[in-house]
Amino acid sequence: MAKITASVYTSHVPAIGAALDHGKSGEPYWQPMFQGYEFSKQWMKDNKPDVIFLVYNDHATAFSLEMIPTFAIGCAEQFQPADEGYGPRPVPVVKGHPELASHIAQSVIQQDFDLTIVNKMDVDHGLTVPLSLMCGQPAEWPCPVIPFAVNVVQYPVPSGRRCYNLGKAIRNAIESYDEPLNVQIWGTGGMSHQLQGPRAGLINREWDNVFLDRLIADPDGLASVPHIDYVREAGSEGIELVMWLIARGAMSDQTPTVKHRFYHVPASNTAVGHLILENN
Ligand code: DHB
Ligand code: FE
Repeated sequence: MAKITASVYTSHVPAIGAALDHGKSGEPYWQPMFQGYEFSKQWMKDNKPDVIFLVYNDHATAFSLEMIPTFAIGCAEQFQPADEGYGPRPVPVVKGHPELASHIAQSVIQQDFDLTIVNKMDVDHGLTVPLSLMCGQPAEWPCPVIPFAVNVVQYPVPSGRRCYNLGKAIRNAIESYDEPLNVQIWGTGGMSHQLQGPRAGLINREWDNVFLDRLIADPDGLASVPHIDYVREAGSEGIELVMWLIARGAMSDQTPTVKHRFYHVPASNTAVGHLILENN
């Protein structure tokens, strides 16, 4: 059977992708941020999965206001890096895993979660920046990736509780796949940031670090935090953090091992948070 060995959590700031793509990662502004991922890149090499189930949000790139799926699973053979206004990022095409993705869709829908099945979709910085942070700049990504897009852009967005329970359903789905695959699940987006309005630039280090503590040790309690707290404390885009609860819900019920923890400000308008948790 397939099993989930680890989960990875990371912010997805688009300027991080631009810094890498334009050879600026060694500059004084960026160097301390990329330093926090040196451990992670080596860990990825040492713990190469067969498949990554990557929870992220689309930023009105593949989906517009014309169509807003709450949860969408990418079942295609491949996904092209999107053109977000400056041309597509010069990163490898993302190869999917249609068999496992279709199995997860079948199982999770049968567990009463409504997923939108997507057979053609471009992927934006929400997905490609986490891959770049964890894998560097390879000619090909190390393994197939199943993109799982969550609406955190247009209200109503799903609650932390729903995301956490969905993670448990995804765990059941993966553990019932009849092939011994090593699967990682990634939760991306966040941490505190607000891109518009009078509070643009908001960062809340204390709240972010309590979020990291609770994600590790008290995910069930953290799942009860309402949207309004994310928006008040972590800014309008801080709501991206509910996606981390999907990955955490997919982990086993035993407390995981914290392999790596990193927090850094600034990166564009966003606080960068990062965790690697291994299942025991
Ligand atoms: C920034 C952060 C985001 O999450 C995003 O989607 C776009 C921009 C930023 O910090 O600039
Ligand atoms: Fe974002």
